[in-house]
Amino acid sequence: MIDLFTQQRHTDLCEEINRHNQRYYNQDQPEITDAEFDALFRELQEIEWAFPDLVTPESPSQKVGAPITEKFAPSTHAVPMLSLKNAKNAEEFSDFDTSIRKNFLARSAELDYACEMKMDGVAIELTYEGGKLIKASTRGDGLVGEDITENIKTITDIPHKLTAPYPEMLDVRGEIYIGLTDFQTLNRAQEDAGDKTFANPRNAAAGSLRQLDAKVTAQRPLRIFCYGIGRMQGVESSTQIETLQLLRKFGLRVNLEETTCVCGADEVINTFRQLQERRDALPFEIDGVVVKVNETALQEELGVVSRSPRWAIALKFPPRREQTIVEGIGLQVGRTGAITPVAHLKPVVVSGVTVSRASLHNWDEIDRLDLRLGDHVIVERAGDVIPDVVKVLTDKRTGNEKQIPLPEECPECNAPVHKNPEEVVPRCNNPHCPAQAIERMKHFVSRDAMDIESLGEKQLTQLINHGKINDVADLYLLSKEDMFAMGRMGETLAEKLVLSISASKTQPLSRLLFGLGIRHVGKNTAKILARHFASLDKLAKCNIEQLIAIHEIGDKVAQSIVDYFGNPEKILLLEKLHQTGVKPQEEVVVEQDGPLTGKIFVITGTLSKWSRKEAEELVEKAGGRASGSVSKKTDYVLAGENAGSKLAKAEELGVEVLDEASFARLVGVSI
Ligand code: IVH
Repeated sequence: MIDLFTQQRHTDLCEEINRHNQRYYNQDQPEITDAEFDALFRELQEIEWAFPDLVTPESPSQKVGAPITEKFAPSTHAVPMLSLKNAKNAEEFSDFDTSIRKNFLARSAELDYACEMKMDGVAIELTYEGGKLIKASTRGDGLVGEDITENIKTITDIPHKLTAPYPEMLDVRGEIYIGLTDFQTLNRAQEDAGDKTFANPRNAAAGSLRQLDAKVTAQRPLRIFCYGIGRMQGVESSTQIETLQLLRKFGLRVNLEETTCVCGADEVINTFRQLQERRDALPFEIDGVVVKVNETALQEELGVVSRSPRWAIALKFPPRREQTIVEGIGLQVGRTGAITPVAHLKPVVVSGVTVSRASLHNWDEIDRLDLRLGDHVIVERAGDVIPDVVKVLTDKRTGNEKQIPLPEECPECNAPVHKNPEEVVPRCNNPHCPAQAIERMKHFVSRDAMDIESLGEKQLTQLINHGKINDVADLYLLSKEDMFAMGRMGETLAEKLVLSISASKTQPLSRLLFGLGIRHVGKNTAKILARHFASLDKLAKCNIEQLIAIHEIGDKVAQSIVDYFGNPEKILLLEKLHQTGVKPQEEVVVEQDGPLTGKIFVITGTLSKWSRKEAEELVEKAGGRASGSVSKKTDYVLAGENAGSKLAKAEELGVEVLDEASFARLVGVSI
């Protein structure tokens, strides 16, 4: 499950990186250093590694460096370069296999699949006419890429002329990559030359392809494996394996030795597991297996859905784990005063990224792990951007490891720290703690909240230190002169800041609600509240019962909202915001219409007609909402085969249970 925070951070990073790319490449006016840019890019990549579903063609990670510039001409793909859907585990692959066989091919017999290594590099397309390489381009947004012909021509793996007999016209697709030994040698050379090193082989390949001087590309150890075709005229191929054999005959490099043709989902999963075992011994990075329906005729029958072929899927490896040592413990104070421990690690490379921090979440987690300072630990880059400590290697203890005590004082303001027995984190309850104040303001001005551009941590800290602001309402009282008084700020920036602060006064209500930082009110809940109550006044006056009556609002959230609007300090703050002219736009209530408007579904067990995702889409199309857990608020449970505890819970709570046929009738589809 992708949490909202990560999803939003991903969107922000894409925008920010695209903007910096424009400034760097097109305007020659970088705003940030290369190291700062790399940190943003790495953060984006880390999110995308953890949540491959977020990788869209628009993501800067999918582009070879620069946005379309005058420097690399745009190049339209004759046939769009599609992207692949991902399966995270065997079960998701089985769902995919069942779905295509039953729903789209109407067959019960097993399918033949070609299993290829999923190379972790950069996708490109090569165009050959009359056997001659006439163009090479990056994938770009799948429709238009960048013309990198000159750079590609320097790669010795790539023939300038195909071996006859060749097709009159051929668009071939493949992955450019750098092998692991070559990568280490390249980084050492970069270091020696005082140039920046690359975080991983994929970045090195992408960076090498985007060189404006093809001579630099020529120095880089780039390699290719070709894996597919866009257009091919004059030659036919009836299977994926045959396609790879043909490409090899034309003189193109393919990874046939590591491609297997297997029958049925079980064999695919076996192949995947075997490859996973061998992954670390391979001379290049792979991040999974690409599984393709082998027969071309069936591929055509299956076709394409939302820019991905229905006949192929990437079966991704689970995150990687590495071993390291906890060298220190840092304490972070959040905007609600929560103090969270962070492990400072001996830097270790986990699937290509250097990791030196890991979230420990809270002291319950420290107890659960029995973690001590100095311990040898296993870290994993899993479902989160920041890696987790997943295991302590207690047999490696020397006796010098130290317990990690709960802090007694706030590391920022030295106020005594309290831990409510019902909570997992200790808190600094000093409402004037500067660390909390800064975090609250950062949150208020952030892009998802009031979206006050250019007002970052640096400016906020300066404003607080100069006594110009004590709370978020003070922002609206700032003048251009106040900004000036802090120094290091030109007239234009000061003016811009005052304008953008003022412009935020009429942001939608949901943004203000989110920006206030009410405990348990995230972006989504803020939207629900804004739509439901339409005005801040109405929300402030509502009681617990009214809140709980809303589908998505539970007891904890309702209590927190009521507490917030009953807190005299918050009432004063809201009054002050009102007086400074903050008048949020009321939100229009848009009722989705469909036979299941407002109904909550839980889908459980294995379905035979749809994958779980497809069933969820059907629910949403009909106006309903799919949820992960059964509660009193659940309206229907769709139960497939081997439905377990969720079905039992539904029966216990008297929730209506549907089989696939009645579900189909309810959502209005035929099966
Ligand atoms: S086939 C429509 N085969 O994975 C199918 N892709 O996540 C297009 N990749 O953009 C891709 N190895 O860059 C295919 N053996 C392989 C691959 C492969 C690596 C990359 C490719 C693609 C991405 C999709």
